[in-house]
Amino acid sequence: MEKEIDSKVFFDPVKFIDREVEWELFQELLEFKGQQRILAIDDIGGMGKTQLLGKLWHHCRTVKPRIPSCFISLGQQGNSPLTLIKSIEKELSKADIQLPNFLKFYTALASGDFSPFLTSIYLQGANFQGATNVTVAGTMTKVEGSDITVNVSASGVAELKPDQQRIAIEVCVKAFLDDLKQLANARVVVLLFDGYEACGNDLESWIRSYLLDRHFFDLENRPEKLLLVVAGRKASQKEPSIRFDLYWSPEDIASVVGSVRQLGKWEKKHLEEFLQNQGFNYQPDEFDILYRMVQMGLPLSHVVSTLNIMMTNRGIKS
Ligand SMILES: Nc1ncnc2c1ncn2[C@@H]1O[C@H](COP(=O)(O)OP(=O)(O)OP(=O)(O)O)[C@@H](O)[C@H]1O
Ligand SMILES: [Mg+2]
Repeated sequence: MEKEIDSKVFFDPVKFIDREVEWELFQELLEFKGQQRILAIDDIGGMGKTQLLGKLWHHCRTVKPRIPSCFISLGQQGNSPLTLIKSIEKELSKADIQLPNFLKFYTALASGDFSPFLTSIYLQGANFQGATNVTVAGTMTKVEGSDITVNVSASGVAELKPDQQRIAIEVCVKAFLDDLKQLANARVVVLLFDGYEACGNDLESWIRSYLLDRHFFDLENRPEKLLLVVAGRKASQKEPSIRFDLYWSPEDIASVVGSVRQLGKWEKKHLEEFLQNQGFNYQPDEFDILYRMVQMGLPLSHVVSTLNIMMTNRGIKS
């Protein structure tokens, strides 16, 4: 039977190989010596971006003291900033790190309770026109003696009206950014975003104009110890998947972002170790061809399928 790379286990620290250059760059980020807060990793598919992020995530979770971190596959966030934010909150809460303001407002939003938003400090400047009706999760359908009406959906959970919903989401996002800032002023926090190329337009735009612009590129107001490692699959060797240059100046990018345009090429010993870890057997002449593939920058998935063909061929001949 054809042998495949074990894809059930997302990251296995025992089987992880190399990436010393990228590891050093991450360690430098953790020292906070300069202004750099982002490490952007670009490469074509199957080269090891996700594995590298897995390694960094594993480090954050196992180092003493632990570094609050979260690994997010951007392609699974449904093009929604709120889904991304909730994923970050969920991941951080596994390490017992709370985002209290965000959670308060998010819970109210999810249960259709608009009342906390009415007293929110985040509402300064928000447009309330058409948003006077309060939707309260609960039992009543009308509040006596007031112009407030109450909507209760069939499922028993109230739903906010579209304009209330918009305001509520705005408040949740602001609360999240504030919570994150407070947290990352007090201690190091690492966000690991994988699959940037799979990010929907709305989500990409939010990440750029809110998260990156405020919390990374705004040198005066950004949190002190927030780090981002973001990996994306580039379509061609020339064009990076993450186009910082479209939004920020070369000077800002140079001070805030460290870039890996291509993961380091493996040496012979790395390929040997990889094939052995994966349980492959190979002949010396086969190895030479596989190593040539690595040198040419072909993805590991191609290397593995080539070896499978070689093994089948060997089986037929013998
Ligand atoms: N540093 C590594 N150590 C061991 N195995 C690795 C390493 N990097 C990659 N691999 C192997 O190569 C496979 C592909 O790597 P990975 O999924 O990280 O690629 P990718 O760059 O994220 O690809 P894509 O752009 O398609 O998401 C992995 O499943 C793993 O078996
Ligand atoms: Mg990947």
